[in-house]
Amino acid sequence: MPLPANLVTLTTTENQQTLSINPPTSGLCLQGVIRIPGDKSISHRALMLGAIAQGETTIKGLLLGEDPQSTASCFRALGADISELNTEQVIVKGIGLGKLQEPVDVLNAGNSGTTLRLMLGLLASAADRFFTVTGDRSLRSRPMSRVVKPLQQMGASIWGREGASLAPLAIKGSVLKPIHYHSPIASAQVKSCILLAGLITEGQTTVTEPALSRDHSERMLKAFGAQIITDPKTNSVTVTGPAQLQGQTVIVPGDISSAAFWLVAGAIVPGSELIVENVGVNPTRTGILEALSMMGADIELLNQRVVAGEPVGDLRVRHGNLKGCTIAGDLIPRLIDEVPILAVAAVFAQGTTIIRDAAELRVKESDRLAVMASQLNQMGAKVTELPDGLEIIGGTPLTGTDVDSHTDHRIAMSLAIAALNSQGTTTIHGAEAAAISYPNFTTTLQELIQAC
Ligand code: S3P
Repeated sequence: MPLPANLVTLTTTENQQTLSINPPTSGLCLQGVIRIPGDKSISHRALMLGAIAQGETTIKGLLLGEDPQSTASCFRALGADISELNTEQVIVKGIGLGKLQEPVDVLNAGNSGTTLRLMLGLLASAADRFFTVTGDRSLRSRPMSRVVKPLQQMGASIWGREGASLAPLAIKGSVLKPIHYHSPIASAQVKSCILLAGLITEGQTTVTEPALSRDHSERMLKAFGAQIITDPKTNSVTVTGPAQLQGQTVIVPGDISSAAFWLVAGAIVPGSELIVENVGVNPTRTGILEALSMMGADIELLNQRVVAGEPVGDLRVRHGNLKGCTIAGDLIPRLIDEVPILAVAAVFAQGTTIIRDAAELRVKESDRLAVMASQLNQMGAKVTELPDGLEIIGGTPLTGTDVDSHTDHRIAMSLAIAALNSQGTTTIHGAEAAAISYPNFTTTLQELIQAC
């Protein structure tokens, strides 16, 4: 039976988009071989390190989402020459470490926590220059004290609302002193901010975290020539400053956080089989594969290789029955951005899934625990919010209804995948948020849907 023409409809009014998904009661599956956009974390870092290195950096496969656009515009305002962003090749002409220029206006990081927090390390250590930074409504409500406090311990001068814990922030760059910071949270943004501040700071700056967070900064800093020592036994990383950074070629792999939507879609929609090619499978990011495998998903990692210092592979997923499981502890930082889509997998699994130790989700682009619980429950799911996670009783059929992304990209896309397996029409308001990390999400969704 042919699929209805209005199965996936995207409506745009001014800056807002509404995505309607109306699956037939049977005969729909997902089939295809796809590539996903470049890794967001690696894209930010390539632009930033390129901007502060000597010489030219070439970036291939950059994510063209709104978040890296924010990073590029901030670093252009700080003096770096960054060519027009595209996926083929971006050239960054570095200005050199310690040479950031005082911008004539406020630096706006938009929706991007990574842009703001990592950049703060560089601004705080840019002696004798003055900067002001801000972001959108969501970013202005997210905690900055996690990076401001350690920077202040290094001697930084930062001002802002609520004791400099909320943007907008004002920064007077200064010569900092090295510290050994024991971070209370496993956060790559915190770790990277301090390491970037340590680049120009004379001596050894060390960060120890309670569990290992993504290590893209460590890998890329090493590739650019910085002296980086990691101690896996204590989850510590040390940078020795002042560093010498030389521009490099960075090849950005596909983002496993974007692949995750298709992995879950393929696993839950009967009759589906998908191959997602060229996915970054850095072990600090593959918690999603482990969690889905605990749930019994049929996922294979093929053609494993190393590209420009990052492990890459192709992922094949086939539909299968999922079962509930417990996801907690050190696994959480390795799948931190995938909790919303994992919640969708859990709703369609038999039995109960418990997600714990994930209180960090409350201070992401939205309170992702509260928003996923409320939106999935609106569709008929049985999700209970825990202080630091979710309890999901799977196996109840979902019914399409009006839901809202709360301007959070990962919520918008997670709800779209839930909608594929629901009865009736789901209308996702605020669907434009997907463009933060996955500009062509809806087009890819339309391409993968097949009559089976
Ligand atoms: C990121 C780190 C994570 C993640 C974010 C990107 C990064 O945040 O949620 O999407 O690129 O360093 P935290 O470090 O705050 O957990």
